[in-house]
Amino acid sequence: MTCLHQRHINPVLLANLDGNNWDIDSYEKRGGYAQLRKILENQVSQDEIIAIMKTSGLRGRGGAGFPTGLKWSFMPRNLPGQKYLVCNSDEGEPGTFKDRDLIRYNPHSIIEGMIIAGYTMGIDIGYNYIHGEIWAEYKRFEEALEQARDKGYLGKSIMNSGFSFDLYAHHGYGAYICGEETALLESLEGKKGQPRFKPPFPASFGLYGKPTTINNTETFACVPFILAMGGEEYLNLGKPNNGGTKIFSVSGDVKYPGNYEIPMGTPFSKLLELAGGMRDEIPLKAVIPGGSSAPVVPSEIMMSLTMDYDSIAKDGGSMLGSGAVIVMNNTRCMVKSLLRLSYFYYEESCGQCTPCREGTGWLWRIIDRIEHGEGRPQDLDLLNDIAGNIQGRTICALGDAAAMPVRGMLKHYWKEFEYHIHNKKCLV
Ligand SMILES: Cc1cc2nc3c(=O)[nH]c(=O)nc-3n(C[C@H](O)[C@H](O)[C@H](O)COP(=O)(O)O)c2cc1C
Repeated sequence: MTCLHQRHINPVLLANLDGNNWDIDSYEKRGGYAQLRKILENQVSQDEIIAIMKTSGLRGRGGAGFPTGLKWSFMPRNLPGQKYLVCNSDEGEPGTFKDRDLIRYNPHSIIEGMIIAGYTMGIDIGYNYIHGEIWAEYKRFEEALEQARDKGYLGKSIMNSGFSFDLYAHHGYGAYICGEETALLESLEGKKGQPRFKPPFPASFGLYGKPTTINNTETFACVPFILAMGGEEYLNLGKPNNGGTKIFSVSGDVKYPGNYEIPMGTPFSKLLELAGGMRDEIPLKAVIPGGSSAPVVPSEIMMSLTMDYDSIAKDGGSMLGSGAVIVMNNTRCMVKSLLRLSYFYYEESCGQCTPCREGTGWLWRIIDRIEHGEGRPQDLDLLNDIAGNIQGRTICALGDAAAMPVRGMLKHYWKEFEYHIHNKKCLV
């Protein structure tokens, strides 16, 4: 799987990448670090940058889609004392594999984005928390940092501007929960990665108790490009409230799984076409449009949707999440698929909250018995009930992430689950 094909539409982040041109000289030739230079030379004001980010309609690419400009405006930038910037490259959601490609092929866009973000929010130290199971990308990012330091883009008084910024890579723990922003902060502090109660939010009490802004890798990578083209132009690449382009990690039963960058609002049918269509021409059954925690969407609904936050949520009853599009053909059994998903959440629950710790295991055991011909008629109501009692009742959203796929599957494929229970075998 790779992003280095030409099957993108109006790419911004993945444009002109060939796998070898990741280094700083190539990035500079593509216009890299020009925005940082412009900002530091002309002293573009922090307010101006925040205004551009707000106009761009960029919404955080980590899953929740929170407007980035607004998040940046929450940072009390004139408050004296240490503040931190953190990049979330934990990328543990099943189906998502875009951030590692950005680190691999365009690491300096992330670094430049972070320096600009640091300048905008009055922050002089940043960390990139990289998923513990990916080594080559960690090394690549370290190499890129070294190049940026050598060229004077990182360190004391960058380009004699008086603005200093240091950036470090942190090789994370490798657990899904460490992608949750407060668990990530705990892990970065060297503690067990368990989510914190919110409020207080990281903007006021973050890393080491100091004001902290956390954004996803793709979010930071967008920043230099937005400043280069202007907020309005970036917004217009997508659609209102869903600005710009987005990388979708397409996996499952397609001919060419991989990362595809397309404008927000592109029809799903077009994305499927870019990915080569259905493998072996077996018809589409369903799609999980936003990573494993997003509710499944049956093909007849999915084919009418566009790939943006609003269409997937309002018309599809699901969520765009991190942009991981899992495509399932007609041969896929929904009970077995849900069994895989529910095992993941059971395995990855940090165990801090009772509904999640107990509920994820309970869900998995029930689905397991249905899959193995031992389901009971009352099991489907029980599954719905347990999922309903997890959702919204935990410190972090891992509980929701475990409950939503169960509720989505039951909503659309109740009959398939019933068939499994009554006939002790699969419908497909
Ligand atoms: C269980 C869980 C796992 C998460 N994993 C990630 C992740 O791997 N990467 C990420 O950017 N955000 C992840 N998030 C979302 C982060 O908490 C946070 O919202 C995000 O990093 C903010 O960045 P953004 O505003 O740029 O989207 C996760 C959230 C939860 C609840």
